[in-house]
Amino acid sequence: MNLSVQLAPANKKGLKLINPVMTASGTFGYGIEYEHLFDIQKLGAIVCKGTALEPWEGNPQPRIAETPDGMLNSIGLQNIGVEALIKEKTPVWAGWQVPVIVNIVGRTIDDYAGVAARLDKVPGVAGLEVNISCPHVKAGGAEFGVNPESAAKVTAAVRKATSLPVIMKLTPNTAEIVHIAQDVAAAGADALCLINTIRGMAINIKTRKPLLGNGYGGMSGPAIKPVALYMVYQVFKAVNIPIIGCGGITTADDAIEFFMAGATAIEVGTASFKNPRAPMDILEGISGYLEKEKIEDIRELIGAAHM
Ligand SMILES: Cc1cc2nc3c(=O)[nH]c(=O)nc-3n(C[C@H](O)[C@H](O)[C@H](O)COP(=O)(O)O)c2cc1C
Repeated sequence: MNLSVQLAPANKKGLKLINPVMTASGTFGYGIEYEHLFDIQKLGAIVCKGTALEPWEGNPQPRIAETPDGMLNSIGLQNIGVEALIKEKTPVWAGWQVPVIVNIVGRTIDDYAGVAARLDKVPGVAGLEVNISCPHVKAGGAEFGVNPESAAKVTAAVRKATSLPVIMKLTPNTAEIVHIAQDVAAAGADALCLINTIRGMAINIKTRKPLLGNGYGGMSGPAIKPVALYMVYQVFKAVNIPIIGCGGITTADDAIEFFMAGATAIEVGTASFKNPRAPMDILEGISGYLEKEKIEDIRELIGAAHM
């Protein structure tokens, strides 16, 4: 049975995974924290917490709230910065079998290009995943990812700064997801990841104030799965680069739906908070499904719902 997939077919280095199960940024630390819980080397890839040029402090507390079948977070991309990442984390990853993809963030286009350039050729880094759900400080604070032009500009700048495979992670907080996906692909992305969290809020009815310190946050978990699935389905028809599906994936059946919608691989996020073994359980469930259905190659499922 073949479970392996290629996420960067047009890239010289390529990004071959032994299976399509990845962890979602911000929900699995640097992988190192999970090493004692199960054999993380068996996963397809690990995506680490968003990393900027300098350390970021993140948003005021409280930063998380539960919602029906999901959660809200407003961590604010708190991170240790790229220099600490290179010093403390990448030497560990360099000894691993499982590829580690660094999720990168920035407040300006130069920030993104700077982190990308710094990580180029660092042993232990297999690729970059670019989070464009960050406020663009020079353009009044709207997310880079909400319009095709700024999304493509970030893509082109990162593409120029690195020879590593580049995955652009799209935000669902836009009406233009298909157009953005097309422009980002044209600007040199090797693959896409869909989706990041959906904007939302909760209000404390005692204090009459927003519950999160930041006022609003990003929603994730099972409740967002249908939205993410539909976006993957739509974008699959519009681009020719691999798509990584992400959003509410909790079971192997969820993952299989994403493959059928057009995903080449999937990321497990919020599910890991409830069950830290979730990525492994999902991987085992996918293998079991293929065996039961007598499917020899996972790639047969990609886009099956479009036939
Ligand atoms: C606590 C938390 C932190 C996150 N941090 C990041 C991040 O640093 N960079 C990023 O691109 N996405 C981040 N995300 C978004 C997830 O990677 C994922 O796209 C989203 O949660 C949807 O998947 P899920 O429903 O499986 O969690 C974060 C999500 C959560 C819940």
